[in-house]
Amino acid sequence: MVAEKNPHVVGIEILKKNGIDVDKLIKELVSNASVEFTAYYYFTLLRANCTGMEGEGIKGIIEDARLEDLSHFESCIERIYQLGGSLPKDATDFIKMSGCEFLQLPPNPTDLNAILEKCLKAEQGAIVNWDRVCQMTNGRDPATYDLAKDILAEEIEHESWFLELLYARPSGHMRRKYSGERPHTQKHSRALG
Ligand SMILES: [Fe+2]
Ligand SMILES: [Fe+2]
Repeated sequence: MVAEKNPHVVGIEILKKNGIDVDKLIKELVSNASVEFTAYYYFTLLRANCTGMEGEGIKGIIEDARLEDLSHFESCIERIYQLGGSLPKDATDFIKMSGCEFLQLPPNPTDLNAILEKCLKAEQGAIVNWDRVCQMTNGRDPATYDLAKDILAEEIEHESWFLELLYARPSGHMRRKYSGERPHTQKHSRALG
């Protein structure tokens, strides 16, 4: 079967009609996916370096946030391709576009305070990233908005967990029922079960 070169994609045309800059939105989603994927990797290192009695409790919280970053990466993939975008062919290009070098292990890798500062900074950056997608899509692209606002809701929770640990600012709700629960994004990352 010969594929038509430029198929008619109603799902994209309606967005253009609604005033969405689809190329800009794809760029935003790919770069946010890169941040989530890279943060998942760095949180793996940070979690592994939470040692000692104090580190044990922090490890569990970083694990909850880490598995939800994987869910956030997974949540982006289908929408990127629906919009006509794609992920970079080279994984190193993909990692570099995240700008997540700040999440590398601190000079003293088991310094728990420095680890928590890094986690907090990552969550706050993610809130800004997903709010930007919400602003771009609110009222004009319900499908992307639905996933961006769900990811944003989890990032806000993650921020509150790390604020509680660093500043004793109550988070209201502390832990997931199990790591990987992802209460807001589970429906967007069904591949994870
Ligand atoms: Fe995330
Ligand atoms: Fe997060």
